[in-house]
Amino acid sequence: MKEADEQLCEAAIKGDTKKVRSLIYSGADVTHFDGDGLNPLMHAAKHGHAPVLTLLLSVGAPWNALSPSNLSAGDYAMQEGHNETFELLLNAGIQSELILGTIARKANKNGDSGHDYLEDRVSFSEDKLMDSESKAVMMAWENPLMEAHAKAVCSGGGHVLNIGFGMGLVDSAIQRYAPASHTIVEAHPEVYERMLRSGWGQKENVKIVFGRWQDVLPQLETYDGIFFDTYGEYYEDLREFHQHLPALLKTGGIYSFFNGLCGSNAFFHVVYCHLVSLELENLGYSTQLIPLPVKDCLGEQVWEGVKQRYWQLDTYYLPVCQAIENPE
Ligand SMILES: C[S@@+](CC[C@H](N)C(=O)[O-])C[C@H]1O[C@@H](n2cnc3c(N)ncnc32)[C@H](O)[C@@H]1O
Repeated sequence: MKEADEQLCEAAIKGDTKKVRSLIYSGADVTHFDGDGLNPLMHAAKHGHAPVLTLLLSVGAPWNALSPSNLSAGDYAMQEGHNETFELLLNAGIQSELILGTIARKANKNGDSGHDYLEDRVSFSEDKLMDSESKAVMMAWENPLMEAHAKAVCSGGGHVLNIGFGMGLVDSAIQRYAPASHTIVEAHPEVYERMLRSGWGQKENVKIVFGRWQDVLPQLETYDGIFFDTYGEYYEDLREFHQHLPALLKTGGIYSFFNGLCGSNAFFHVVYCHLVSLELENLGYSTQLIPLPVKDCLGEQVWEGVKQRYWQLDTYYLPVCQAIENPE
């Protein structure tokens, strides 16, 4: 059988649909990785063979399998500039994640640790906030991103809500826009204590709400700008938060969130950017993704002592969401 599996990879490289079909029918393994660490779907994607790729997907070749160098078929299609195979994989990814959500269930900012971060100790240093497993809750390299998020959610002035204080980077930036009111929701007891110690409770326009956003929703009002950036939560939590947007965001208001979705794989990130935009559109919001280069903020030394690199991409896509106006 091993020979047939190798032949399947070779046929996928050549784009020989007939051969691929006959090998599949005779039992060749569509998930087989050859000596180069690639499976048939990756080969088809890499060489731009759309019919072979479609056939492989239709018999269950997983769109999200990773090579030893952590690349998926979609990454190969993207790298080689094969638009058709890229689009086919993107659609396969979106369809599959809409139903199963397998990737984001595993890939939240702190990985799949299963422990309750909010019950854990955290430690603060100048350039990061870490959990008890040395995973970064927040890091200073994100400062330019937080500045840009603050600018977006403060662009209409008025009342601003931020979920997740962390190192207070986005909140310090929001303060510089002097909003009419600035509400901050924070759930971690130590982060909350630190906020109070550093004077956030005394700021005139600031209201701090201690607790999980899920539990304090009844204490919230309506806002002109909302930013969401929690930790230890999953895509489903973000999705759940989005269900509350119509009740929280004023007409004409701006919503943004930390877009770290699948931040360690370029193709999975594209899938999730599409998925979240699609789901927000279903709720009546348009999403503009503004590209911000981050390569220069991310030298090797940034990750020293950090257990997981939650971001490994060169460009950050900052989401700016607004209610879609109903055409009269
Ligand atoms: C990534 S940090 C936020 C960083 C922040 N944007 C900044 O600029 O520094 C996430 C924060 O969300 C808090 N958090 C986690 N889960 C939460 C929840 N369910 N409700 C409210 N805050 C939460 C964490 O304790 C942490 O302080």
